[in-house]
Amino acid sequence: MLFFIDTANLNHIREAAELGILDGVTTNPSLMAKEGITGEANILKHYREICNIVGPDKDVSAEVISTDYAGMIKEGKALAELHENIVVKVPMTVDGVKAISTFSSMDIKTNCTLVFSAGQAILAAKAGATYLSPFIGRIDDITWDGIKLIEEISEIYTMQAYDTAILAASIRTPLHIVQAAKAGADVVTCPLSAIMGLFKHPLTDIGLAQFLADHKKANG
Ligand code: G3P
Repeated sequence: MLFFIDTANLNHIREAAELGILDGVTTNPSLMAKEGITGEANILKHYREICNIVGPDKDVSAEVISTDYAGMIKEGKALAELHENIVVKVPMTVDGVKAISTFSSMDIKTNCTLVFSAGQAILAAKAGATYLSPFIGRIDDITWDGIKLIEEISEIYTMQAYDTAILAASIRTPLHIVQAAKAGADVVTCPLSAIMGLFKHPLTDIGLAQFLADHKKANG
């Protein structure tokens, strides 16, 4: 399972990249706005900076703002030309699916975002999306089960031999990461806090303290 970080914060991206386990980055307009990145030129510059931090062969999702097919194609082509790492992120709408299908025929990688059902997952796979982003945290928010959706899509994609990778998004906790892995996600995209949470175990801390204390006692 690949690990992406879900942020536009350059320090968080650097920190995750330094761990040596980072495979890519996802962003969205809300995450860009949170970092105060506004205006087309600054937004494009920021995407380029993210691509340079993560290095070659690491996918970086950049989302289109247009909601109509023609606008999505124009915007997506410009984003894809920006850097070879860029994956064009497109919302799950009628125009979005049409645009994914066109990008697919142009060999431009896509990430179909805002996915909340297995039916939507089938449409995105048929259109040739590279990645599919079901938002598991937002499904949990309304007391449905986000992980169950990952399981359902994983079963369908395996049965139908679809190539689209399941990218579990809207991950909020380390537990979500483990559950997504068990449910068959190909990728998780998570905030730095969820990734760092995976390290934590009190027995690791206690065990390390004991080893160091024993070494000190024996060696002075
Ligand atoms: O990758 C999608 C993600 O950014 C949405 O997360 O926490 O806003 O539901 P959240």
